Formats: sequence, structure tokens, C-alpha cells
Amino acid sequence: MTEAGHPDDILPRNLRFGVRENADRAWLGGDPVLSALFDGFAVLLPLGERFFIRSLRPFEPHVTDPALIEAMQAFAAQEAFHTREHEGYNDALRSLGHDVAAMEAKAAKLLGSVKDPAMRLVVTCAIEQLTFALARFILQRPALMDGAAPAYRRLWRWHALEEVEHASVALQVLRAARLGIPAWRLYVTRVVCLWVTVSALTTFALQNVAMILQPGGGRLPWRRRLRLLWALLGSPGFMRGLVVPCLAYLRPGYGGGGGAGDAGLVAEGRRLLAADPPMAEPRPA
Ligand SMILES: [Fe+2]
Ligand SMILES: [Fe+2]
Repeated sequence: MTEAGHPDDILPRNLRFGVRENADRAWLGGDPVLSALFDGFAVLLPLGERFFIRSLRPFEPHVTDPALIEAMQAFAAQEAFHTREHEGYNDALRSLGHDVAAMEAKAAKLLGSVKDPAMRLVVTCAIEQLTFALARFILQRPALMDGAAPAYRRLWRWHALEEVEHASVALQVLRAARLGIPAWRLYVTRVVCLWVTVSALTTFALQNVAMILQPGGGRLPWRRRLRLLWALLGSPGFMRGLVVPCLAYLRPGYGGGGGAGDAGLVAEGRRLLAADPPMAEPRPA
């Protein structure tokens, strides 16, 4: 059974996946390298999601469209549930002996250095485009997660669906915000910020992958390096998944992905979630 709803609906789902209780260093089909690639990015999500929620809040008074106000509220609710579940994910990494604080440190410093509200909003738009790219990658390749441990598989598919549902919200807020910046300057800032943010976060995530695969430090054995390179550039080809959303972001009038413009992806995400729901009954947040 597929979850009902229009592709433009942003539906916060208060679900629990139990990754904390099911920690597994090779959760993705028994493959520690592929698992570490997801884990290295996942570590950064709770601090990123708190940053998004706080960055949009100051612009609530700028928004007059009731539909966008509702979308902002649904966005914040989805990101809050993601934060909670990814805190559990990070606890799972801690229980496997990983230094989560060290893995978060550089991204926390970078995000903490952005003080200007307008820049925080632009950075949020950029990171949302990155999470949209990963979400799209996951939903376009449902077989990728078929062999994953159930708690991780359900969490990633749920998160991917909700990232696609709310992918355009931050950009809509950016458009509605009264920033007093000429359109051309806002465009340049938005595009430069995407490349800086994507480069920095991809670098931090890959450093985390190395820390996960080589907890004692030192260089990764070259067989592992080749395996990583193949996963990034060959199959499943994570870096290729970034290309289309990053190029789309260059369009001056780009309004964000997801929703009705990606109705097929939304429907696929809802179908996957309905077919493979979390086992535990949701409890109050
Ligand atoms: Fe999220
Ligand atoms: Fe998001």
C-alpha cells in the first residue's frame, strides 16, 4: 500500500528506527566501505539539521504566503525528527568505538562561523541541495539498500523521502526574504556558496570515512582506497549523483527540486516506506 498525498505535501512522520540499538559497522550488505561512506556523511546530519531549523526561523516574519508558512513548519518538524533519529545513529557509531565529536568538529566550526542571518539562509539552501542530491540518489537506486540491515535501510529511505518532499522550502524562503541584495549578487552568492559548501562537506565526510575505516589513524591500505574510489566514481557512483542537482542549482531562476517536479521520486519514496515500515510503534516525540 502506498501512502496517500499530493507530491507537494510535506508530511512529518514521527517514526523511530532503532539504529542506536542495532549498531553495525557493515550494515550495508556486509560491506564496511559502502557502510562507512554513508556513516561519514550521516555523522554531520544532526548538527546540520539544527542549523537549518535555526536559520529559517528569523525569516518567518518575511513570509506572507500561508502555503509557505505551512511548508516551513512541516520542514522544521521533519528536520527535528531526522535530528532525533540521527542522534541515535551517532550513538550507534560511538558504541562501535568511533570518535563522533572529532568527526563533527570541522563542520561544527564552519557552520558556527556563519553568523549573518542572510548567509545562514544561503548556506541552508546549499546544504539542502546536497541532501536532496543524496536523497535522489537513494530513491533512484532502491536496490542499493535492499541488502541493508533493516533499521538502517528504513531510516535512510524515510530520510530520503522527506528530503525530497521539502527540498525547495529553503529556496522558497530565500526568494520571499527581504534581504535588500540585488538579484545578481544574490545569485552569485548562492552559487559560490553551493560550491564552497559542497566541497567542504564532501571533504569532511570523506575524512570521516577514513576515520571510520582506520580508527587508529594512518593511511588507508591502498586496496581500501581503490574500493572507495570505485564506490565514489564507478558503482554505485556517489559523485555522479551530485552532478545533476548541482548543475540545476546554477540556473538563475532555480526554485529547488522535490515536490510535484519530482513526483516520481516522491511516489517511489512513499511506496518504499509503506512497503517496509519501521517495526516499532511510534511513541510521542
Ligand atoms: Fe533531514
Ligand atoms: Fe532537509
